[in-house]
Amino acid sequence: MKLVVLGATGGTGLEVVRQALQRGHSVTALVRSPERLKSFAGQITVKQGDLLSSADLQPVIQGHDAVVSAFGPRLPVSKADAHLLQQFAEALTGAIVNTDVRRVVVESVGFLFKDAIFPPAYLLGRLLFPQVVADASAMEHVFAHSHLDWTMVRPPELTDKPYTGKYRVRDGHLPLFGFKIGRADVAEFMIKAAETCSWVGKIVGVSN
Ligand SMILES: NC(=O)c1ccc[n+]([C@@H]2O[C@H](COP(=O)([O-])OP(=O)(O)OC[C@H]3O[C@@H](n4cnc5c(N)ncnc54)[C@H](OP(=O)(O)O)[C@@H]3O)[C@@H](O)[C@H]2O)c1
Repeated sequence: MKLVVLGATGGTGLEVVRQALQRGHSVTALVRSPERLKSFAGQITVKQGDLLSSADLQPVIQGHDAVVSAFGPRLPVSKADAHLLQQFAEALTGAIVNTDVRRVVVESVGFLFKDAIFPPAYLLGRLLFPQVVADASAMEHVFAHSHLDWTMVRPPELTDKPYTGKYRVRDGHLPLFGFKIGRADVAEFMIKAAETCSWVGKIVGVSN
């Protein structure tokens, strides 16, 4: 498949790029800092631009099969990034509408699972990271009201542990006792989701 990877220079994003190549996909990344993808020189197409601009996103996305996004605010979240995910969702949905691409797989946050008890994800999120919860919620709202074939992937705490392939996936819920997951495992699920229609219109909890 021809994939556009957004947030390609981040922890999950780099894994998405690496594994997408391993799985035989072609990868285009739109980034603000192309030098961070030097190690993939000759293997992927790198475009520089503003990920909050529909005008920058549209020509990059045109002609691809799907968009996989691991975009998100760098931590700690600055005041300037308080609405970053929502702005990104608005830019991306605005851009895609003018292309023939419909499939989008987006990394969101496990904090949005209101029914999770172990861990009490929503409560923890509201207490510790209220801004992130509000922004991710606004982002999901934008995708949910778009006409795209979206999938929201909601992990709990992300780690940099190596790929295991041993992770759990639940439609509409956080897996029980799902406290953490490695970025490499999230990346694999996101690519697999982009490869099929099975998860279209679904909010998916993933954890170790
Ligand atoms: N941290 C956690 O435990 C956790 C848990 C659940 C969900 N999540 C969510 O999972 C996603 C991925 O997390 P991660 O830790 O793997 O990502 P990350 O390492 O923080 O990387 C974020 C990516 O977004 C890009 N980005 C951020 N602000 C940007 C801007 N203004 N313009 C252009 N690009 C920008 C970064 O580009 P640069 O390299 O140029 O900065 C980078 O590629 C995020 O949405 C995060 O909210 C995180």
